Amino acid sequence: MSRHRIAVLPGDGIGPEVVAGGLRVLAAVARRFGLEIELVEYPMGAAGVAAAGEPFPPATRDAVQRADAVLLGAVGDPSLDQAPRHLRPETGLLALRALLGVYANLRPVAIHPALLDHSPLKPERLRGTNLLIVRELTGGLYYGEPRGNDGAVAINTLRYTRAEIERVSRLAFKAAQGRRRRLLSVDKANVLETSQLWRQVVTGLATEYPDVTLEHLYVDYAAMRLVSDPSTIDVLLTENMFGDILSDEAAVLTGSLGMLPSASLGDGPGLFEPIHGSAPTIAGQDVANPIGTIASVAMLLRHGLSLPEPADAVEEAIATVLAAGARTRDLGAGPGEALGTRAMAERIAAAIR
Ligand code: NAD
Ligand code: IPM
Ligand code: MN
Repeated sequence: MSRHRIAVLPGDGIGPEVVAGGLRVLAAVARRFGLEIELVEYPMGAAGVAAAGEPFPPATRDAVQRADAVLLGAVGDPSLDQAPRHLRPETGLLALRALLGVYANLRPVAIHPALLDHSPLKPERLRGTNLLIVRELTGGLYYGEPRGNDGAVAINTLRYTRAEIERVSRLAFKAAQGRRRRLLSVDKANVLETSQLWRQVVTGLATEYPDVTLEHLYVDYAAMRLVSDPSTIDVLLTENMFGDILSDEAAVLTGSLGMLPSASLGDGPGLFEPIHGSAPTIAGQDVANPIGTIASVAMLLRHGLSLPEPADAVEEAIATVLAAGARTRDLGAGPGEALGTRAMAERIAAAIR
């Protein structure tokens, strides 16, 4: 039996709590399927600054490169919001994504039937929603040079190469082939040159995937479609910044930002993290929803370690406890009935079959 090495980066705020929940379920599924998993834990974000003076310390850097997969909680701390860029937790996260070369960020959005009433959207609009956001993750405004702020002028650069667009688009076309065979590419080609290139490249690739129906939308209207008619979307492909914004919007459909997992994939080890942040105002209170992280563990098993059956078992366990009425506070549970972070993870671990 092969041994799987996972680098665990709990990070900041609620990160350590939700990661503990994810590891609790990972232990249960490893026992059930006889998996041999080695966990190595390293500081990241504000925890990295505290431990080693930088948000992505050298020891963490080494560990993620030697791992089969990386599990991250979240980074970010208000005490560093005004820090110089090289000390910001978010800068460490961007460096981690760049180092691993994880150019494609998969953010699946599925509505659990038991949570249909928890979204501000009407259940009849939500029914049937099951979409996958494919967000380009290592290019665009987040990485473009020049950048800077001298107090009088601030600059960011939006830059995309044909090759960057092509590799993430291919992944999205292939993902669509395994689903409902519809690809929605989102851009701002009515204004931006980068989006014009994006649209050209995606359109050019479509001939290689004739079984996939391709549609293009401008990002402003796509943002509206996501809430007015989400069930018509299968795979939504977009650039880094648009994907960041649209995925938090999509989380509303599921009932809570705490529900959404992600997988960031490239040619080396994958990075798996919930899409939410460090939620500093609720950190340390055992109230955060661990499901986004637990579902990220499922994605880690499926995409990071090529273990589809254990991945299914984790997703089924999440569905089972939600159907049975288990709710954290963000899912609308009242004071007496809300499960804490630990209790929710424990329930899901106990439901692994
Ligand atoms: P956030 O996602 O941390 O929180 C937004 C809201 O959602 C808050 O009300 C929070 O309490 C709630 N929330 C988030 N996750 C939750 C969970 N699992 N359970 C219950 N409620 C949850 O976003 P923010 O407040 O804009 O940012 C806070 C910090 O996190 C910032 O420093 C930001 O840069 C960082 N951040 C990090 C990541 C990441 O590590 N990938 C992602 C987003 C934001
Ligand atoms: C996310 C986060 C990050 C991003 C931040 C913290 C850099 O919002 O993972 O969605 O914008 O990618
Ligand atoms: Mn985000």
